Amino acid sequence: MSKDPSFDDQYVWIRTQDGSPTLWSNQLGEPFRSVKGAFRESLLVFVKPALEYILQKNIKNPVIGEFGLGIGTNWLLFNLLAPIFEIEHSYFAIEKNTSPFFESQKKWEAEIPLIEKIVEDVFKKRISFSMASLKDPQIFNSLEATSPANKASIWFHDPFGFGVNPEGYTEETLIKCENLWAPQFLGLSYACNSNFQRVLKNRKLNRVESLDVQSPPLKKERLEFERLTQN
Ligand SMILES: C[S@@+](CC[C@H](N)C(=O)[O-])C[C@H]1O[C@@H](n2cnc3c(N)ncnc32)[C@H](O)[C@@H]1O
Repeated sequence: MSKDPSFDDQYVWIRTQDGSPTLWSNQLGEPFRSVKGAFRESLLVFVKPALEYILQKNIKNPVIGEFGLGIGTNWLLFNLLAPIFEIEHSYFAIEKNTSPFFESQKKWEAEIPLIEKIVEDVFKKRISFSMASLKDPQIFNSLEATSPANKASIWFHDPFGFGVNPEGYTEETLIKCENLWAPQFLGLSYACNSNFQRVLKNRKLNRVESLDVQSPPLKKERLEFERLTQN
């Protein structure tokens, strides 16, 4: 895909505190992932809890759904790690502006040694990765236009933070998202504000839990949500 001519005016690549890159949006004055550690944040808030849930619940062929693909950090790290745990999955994402994702594809190969180092630190395991295992996600450009073949067992809710994009956290948005969730699913988010938690509880998600990331200097809290059924 050819480069969007205004890309370099809109964005700049930065290095975050764990050495990993993320994209900075000049317009929003915001990074796509935390400046305190982009890859660590993605692993600890999204990818590791997702892998653990899939393995614990023994979910076969899980579908990963992501609201806010951005530069695809979560997609990249999940896709590198899933084969290591013998997880065959499919991945769909909702993203209105895909040029950051396609631009970032050119960068990741050079980051493999750093990914291996950060993964070793987080998973206490030395793993070698290859970009060959990567499959593009199925991308939809809006929640309304999203029609995945199967519903998500894992939901990454990541449409920028509440301060930048409050619409991403309203009940109206959640109603559209919940059409995309499997009956048994785990939702993960880095937005822990009380409004969002209240909205989630209104949608009858009966486990809405804020957990300690335990990895300073990253922001302390992350969020898990799910619909627990009796039996
Ligand atoms: C913080 S970035 C996502 C970071 C990404 N998950 C990663 O791991 O690199 C948020 C993304 O959400 C997208 N987004 C926000 N609201 C959206 C909406 N209503 N529909 C589609 N995309 C949306 C933005 O365009 C942006 O690319």
